[in-house]
Amino acid sequence: MARSLKVAQEYQQKVKSSLQRNSYPSQKALADDLGISLSTVKNFLGSKPVDYQYFVEICRKLELNWQEIAHKESDTQLNSSTTLEETSPFITGSSITHPRHFFGRQKELKRLFDLLKRHPLQNAAIIGKRRIGKTSLLHYLKNITTTPPEQLRAAQKYDWLPHPENYKWIFVDFQDPRMASRERLLSYILECLSLKVPTLCNLDYFMDIVSDNLHSPTVILLDEIGVGLKRCPELDDEFWECLRSLATNHTRGNLAFILATHESPIELARNTGHSSPFFNIFGYTATLGALTEAEARELIASSPITFAEEDVEWILQQSQCLPLLLQILCRERLFNLEDGETDENWREEGLRQIEPFAHLLEAQTQR
Ligand SMILES: Nc1ncnc2c1ncn2[C@@H]1O[C@H](COP(=O)(O)OP(=O)(O)O)[C@@H](O)[C@H]1O
Ligand SMILES: [Mg+2]
Repeated sequence: MARSLKVAQEYQQKVKSSLQRNSYPSQKALADDLGISLSTVKNFLGSKPVDYQYFVEICRKLELNWQEIAHKESDTQLNSSTTLEETSPFITGSSITHPRHFFGRQKELKRLFDLLKRHPLQNAAIIGKRRIGKTSLLHYLKNITTTPPEQLRAAQKYDWLPHPENYKWIFVDFQDPRMASRERLLSYILECLSLKVPTLCNLDYFMDIVSDNLHSPTVILLDEIGVGLKRCPELDDEFWECLRSLATNHTRGNLAFILATHESPIELARNTGHSSPFFNIFGYTATLGALTEAEARELIASSPITFAEEDVEWILQQSQCLPLLLQILCRERLFNLEDGETDENWREEGLRQIEPFAHLLEAQTQR
């Protein structure tokens, strides 16, 4: 689900006065102008959490810099009350959400942004084994172009798009059971687009409102779409067909889908009994494997305590440059150095910790 944001305490006054400064006679006038509910505006002004997309939209109308005034609530990997030094250097339990912790995939990023930077926006599929880094890549696409450079590593490329501020990104996680309901999913997409959500949101209404109102480039990221296809009978061929026709015929090239799955979309459709042409619109497929050696070295070098060259070589070899395995082995080496231990037990422990992910090492695609 999208993150929610709230106004940081020190900006409360500034935000309250911005309504008048921008000639809005009332909170309702702002809500109407944006086509969103009054309660969202009230929450925003009262420093209560509101959906990320609404937050950005409201700030735009009120001429506020959203990144400056936001108190980031739910970004546990890096939030405004945590300094960079306090955050964990190696992340192994969850997908990478903050771009600072993401390494490599430069070839895939270039191709994906090439598809998204010109009209018509084009669709892509990201394929790869469990825990290879699909979700992390989706988050990175969504966040990298608008993250303030001071929150990135030196030399980390962020200028992938000519006008990143115009783009809307919608992250749909099909592992979230709420996304199994057609109505919930459509309402969620409308909400992210700051469009009015009706009490009953059906496919016809959704198609009409999106085709009438989608004027800026929009990318819908569909994570674990296979789960959606297998578990959700409401997401049937008619549903997928509508999404396809929306992207190809009704949004003036402004809409693209990027999906993540462990098998090719066409195979996936076949294996789950779907026949919709939706699964034929993915002209570009990125198959994720290991990082390049240079990318893997960069990840290792991000350790706050420098590793000895022989340790670096051992980590590269054992991990075969697979990002999760790199992260685990680096974590073990770092803990061991931090504890001032001089033995080699960390290697044994590291191998034990990567054991459950041995499937990643099988039939590795060479880079
Ligand atoms: N580009 C990357 N840079 C650094 N670590 C990564 C990267 N991609 C994946 N990882 C590591 O792999 C783990 C699994 O990634 P994730 O995106 O959740 O995989 P998937 O969605 O394919 O199951 C993350 O917790 C992280 O440790
Ligand atoms: Mg995932």
